[in-house]
Amino acid sequence: MIIERSWSMPNSLTFSIKPIKLFLEQEILGSEWCDPFARNSKLAKYTNDLNKNTKAKSHLEALEFLKSFEDDSLDGVLFDPPYSTRQMKEVYDSIGIHLKDTKSSVWTKWKEEISRIVKPGGRVISFGWNSGGIGKNLGFKIQKILLVAHGGIHNDTICTLEIKGEYSNFNSTNQTKLELMN
Ligand SMILES: C[S@@+](CC[C@H](N)C(=O)[O-])C[C@H]1O[C@@H](n2cnc3c(N)ncnc32)[C@H](O)[C@@H]1O
Repeated sequence: MIIERSWSMPNSLTFSIKPIKLFLEQEILGSEWCDPFARNSKLAKYTNDLNKNTKAKSHLEALEFLKSFEDDSLDGVLFDPPYSTRQMKEVYDSIGIHLKDTKSSVWTKWKEEISRIVKPGGRVISFGWNSGGIGKNLGFKIQKILLVAHGGIHNDTICTLEIKGEYSNFNSTNQTKLELMN
């Protein structure tokens, strides 16, 4: 896999952070993408955000939105949820919504649905404080990781690009060696 690192100021609009914007311009291939946590982003064709004061086309809880897609139907998913249970609670409190399910198990449920709806060879780009992505157990293989450092005591934003199935003709072992040597 390729691992790259850049530096940029933090921004709650993840996709407006310059290295992430460039990464997305390169890696969003195909037109059938969904973004269950879109806020005001229009990068995907199907956008959703629980918060009604955003420009997303629908305002469902992410799991409900993801369940509305057919099996193996999408070229890709942008997965930029709250990064912790604490962030999740802050989001809900700020929009006056009381959700029962704010446990970490909700991330697993979102990932299971994402794995179901992405077509074989399709892509998921995940954002957060870890590089777990959707994961090998749900049929995904990491192709690229972009670490965006923000300085001071800020956590990095970690962007993980994965492909569903063994469809990448990448030689991950050699590529990792090459990256480490540079
Ligand atoms: C990290 S932000 C996404 C930022 C976006 N990618 C951008 O670059 O502007 C997460 C978004 O998810 C929304 N959200 C939080 N919990 C949600 C849920 N359970 N279902 C749908 N949207 C949710 C929040 O309202 C927030 O706008």
